[in-house]
Formats: sequence, C-alpha cells, structure tokens
Amino acid sequence: MESKSRQLPSDSTASTKKQTALLAGRSRMVRLAGIGVVILAVIGAFLYLGGWFSPHKLTPVRFVDEFERVNGRYSGFRRNHAKGVCVRGFFDSNGRGTRLSKAVVFRIGRVPVIGRFSLGGGDPHASDELSAVRGLGLQFSLSDGEQWRTAMINLPAFPFKDPQAFYDNVVASEPDRNTHQPDPAKMAAFLANNPETVRALEIIKSHAPSSGFDNSTFYGLNAFRFVDAQGTWTPVRWTLVPVQPYEAVGATGASQDKNFLFDALIASILQHPLQWHLILTLGQLGDPTNDATVPWPEGREQVDVGSLTLDSVESEETSPARDINFDPLVLPAGISPSDDPLLSARSAIYSQSFTRRAGETKEPSAITPSDVRK
Ligand code: HEM
Repeated sequence: MESKSRQLPSDSTASTKKQTALLAGRSRMVRLAGIGVVILAVIGAFLYLGGWFSPHKLTPVRFVDEFERVNGRYSGFRRNHAKGVCVRGFFDSNGRGTRLSKAVVFRIGRVPVIGRFSLGGGDPHASDELSAVRGLGLQFSLSDGEQWRTAMINLPAFPFKDPQAFYDNVVASEPDRNTHQPDPAKMAAFLANNPETVRALEIIKSHAPSSGFDNSTFYGLNAFRFVDAQGTWTPVRWTLVPVQPYEAVGATGASQDKNFLFDALIASILQHPLQWHLILTLGQLGDPTNDATVPWPEGREQVDVGSLTLDSVESEETSPARDINFDPLVLPAGISPSDDPLLSARSAIYSQSFTRRAGETKEPSAITPSDVRK
C-alpha cells in the first residue's frame, strides 16, 4: 500500500510532465502557426495592394507604373509634374472664411507657406510649352501645428472624372515609336468612351492660357466640405486669382528658351513679390461635388478669404518643398474631403510616386540653384 501510495504521486508527476510537454509542444505549434498566418497576411496584403489578385484592377502601383512606362523613369523626380521650382511666402487671412470653416488658417492673421510651381508631365527636363498644364502646390503651416496642403492647376475644369479615365488617357497618349506622337486612333477611341472629357476640353479651350506662371489663375477643382464651429458644412471649391494682370500669350510672344516659363517666373518674383487672392466658391444643392470635369454654374457666391504672397524662389535642389508630397487630403480640422473619387485616388497615387522618388538617387533639376540667382 505504502509503495502504491508512494507510486501514485510519482505516476501522476510523470503524466503531468508528459501533459505539460505535450501542451508546450502544442502551444509552440500554435505560436508558429500564428506567426505563419501573420506572415501570410502581410504577404497577402502586399500582393493585394500591388494588384496581384486582380490583374485588371487599377491600383496606385499600376497607375504609377503606367506613368513610368509612357513618360520614362527619372530617378528622384515626381512621376507627374516632374519639372518644377520652389517658392516661399505667406498667406494673410482677412477673417472672412471663419463663417464657413473653423480652420485656424481662416482666422485673421498670417501663416507661412512653402510651395512649388510645376509643369504637367513626367519628364523633368522637358522644354517649357505654353500649352502645358501649370501647377502650384502649397503647404500652409498653421499656428496650431496643423498643415493644409493643396495642389492646383491652371485649367478651369479637370479633363477626367475618375482615376480610370485619367489612366486610360495616359495609355492612349503613349507616343508612337515612329511618329513620336500619340496614335490619333487610340485618342479618338478614348474620347468616344469619355464624352465628359470632350465637354471639359471645350471649357478648357474657351479659357486662353495667360503668358506665364505669375499671371495664371490656379484652380483647386475638387470640391471640399467647409465645416464651421457648429458642425454645419458647405460645399466649396477654391481658386487663386492673380493680382498680376492677365496678359495673353501673344502679347509677350513665346520664347525658344527651354525654360522660358520658369525663367520668367524667377525674374518676376526677384523683381517684386507675387500675389493671389484665395477665392472660395460656394456650391448649392444639386451642384456636383463628385465630378471635377463640371464647373459649377456662374453666379455662385464667392468669398475672398485672403491673399497669398510668394516672395522668394529656390531650386528644388535646395528647397524642402522637393520632398513634400502635396497630398490633397492633408487638411486641417474645418476642411473635409467631398465625395469626389479623385481625392482618395490622388492621395494614394501621390503617396506611391512619393515613396518611389524618396528612395531614389537625386539627379540635378532643370532649374538649378544658379538659375534662381540670375
Ligand atoms: C486621378 C487624378 C490624378 C492623378 C493620378 C495625379 C497624379 C499625380 C502624381 C503621380 C503626381 C506626383 C506626386 C508626387 O510625387 O509628389 C502629381 C502631382 C501634381 N498634381 Fe496630380 N494627379 C491627379 C489629379 C490632379 C488634379 C485634379 C490636380 C489639380 C487640381 C492635380 C495637380 C497636381 C499638381 C499641381 C502636382 C504637382 C505638385 C507638386 O509640386 O508636388 N492633380 N499628380
């Protein structure tokens, strides 16, 4: 009995040890399986984001790949609006925006601004063209630490209603190997499939471009929601209207110089600060907020909320603006995105372009530090 009674505990110790070993083995297996699941999930997420599960789905990776395939790949440069020059200045708010938005930037006062003028296209060394799309990216640094970023162009309507239409246009505009021009048949097919682009191009053609960057109007085009202190929101589109008087293209004549638009901008800003009024256009019920190809009807209320002054110019090579992603969804409290499908697409695609260029060796820009000191 004694031995039995002595044996019993020792038997149970052995079986407990066995069970513990078994459990430890199982929990190791469970942990390993868990790690495997996590690794598979991470790989799956990468494949999903890269569009590997849906070969025809338009992803940011695929969009930026197409920009590179059609325009070329230039180390360290933006995949669109690649050619540019950087600027600094400030925004003086007159306080009139506070009735529409609680954003700190609209309180009376001055906030510093850093920005970048650019031309549309993926070649950072392309020759300046009067017909090229002119861009202006701005970052407002608010007193409470928030930022407001916006990237605007000199077109009164955007030619593409959604990212797919823009992508299809990039595909259709690939230069033919022999003629070095887009294939007219492909472009005609694109336009036939996208009647809204045809309508937007009519509006664009009716606004002759000005002679330079300094007297260009820049349009935000996408609609946003301005939210006031009570939480009431208003659909808004913004525009920068130049104080510099409009001059038609013919008045100054197009120069043959490769950088004539940027050179003129630099000369102008070195002569005197450049100024624009920031004008908000208020949408009404029924005005489309999800289609940047359609301008809102004439006569909508406009509010001048202050003036932008740009008083210094710098090459991309020395300016921190080179490494800013002018993502249109970097917004302060008081400005929210609308239902425009371009906004989230732009944010994701700019991020993809930014991630690629940030990791690449930087080549010299077309506008060098010595160009801005002339
Ligand atoms: C689906 C639509 C669009 C696509 C795919 C697209 C694509 C891009 C890309 C890839 C960049 C370079 C981003 C970077 O590397 O930082 C860029 C820059 C820019 N985009 Fe867009 N864009 C779109 C719509 C627009 C619209 C609607 C506007 C104007 C209202 C605009 C104005 C600009 C400007 C001004 C820049 C240059 C900003 C800077 O200097 O960094 N884009 N775009």
